[in-house]
Amino acid sequence: MKRIYIVATLLFWLGVTAIWAGSHWMPATQEVAALSPTKAYSLQAVAAHNRADNCWMAINGQVYDLSAYIPQHPSAPEVIVAWCGKEATTAYMTKNRGRPHSPYATELLQRYRIGVLDMR
Ligand code: HEM
Repeated sequence: MKRIYIVATLLFWLGVTAIWAGSHWMPATQEVAALSPTKAYSLQAVAAHNRADNCWMAINGQVYDLSAYIPQHPSAPEVIVAWCGKEATTAYMTKNRGRPHSPYATELLQRYRIGVLDMR
């Protein structure tokens, strides 16, 4: 009986130590955020990617590579392709006709972020 008690206590503290150590090894949320792209691209660099199959856009100070997304966009291709290689904040905010994109669209957009817009 005493042996079971000792083994159970040992296992319990082993578990507690493992959880404590694990929380120290896992990167904190801030560190994960720091790993997201921070490379800066000029508007000139963005402008070189102005085709449907090579499409970058600057939106709200961030740069996105939307090449993989263009075929999936729900509008006629020319509506979005016209903004490849450009500063497209207003186009994105208004869908060209005054209506904003949904929160889902903005969440989707984050998957394509490659860096920030270099304003210098
Ligand atoms: C910047 C140029 C863009 C223009 C002019 C534009 C325009 C449009 C238009 C006309 C529609 C369809 C009609 C409507 O739902 O009201 C639409 C829908 C949509 N667009 Fe765009 N779009 C652009 C960029 C993007 C980007 C970069 C994404 C995300 C990566 C995106 C995601 C979506 C989604 C998910 C919808 C479905 C409706 C919604 O969720 O808001 N669009 N867009």
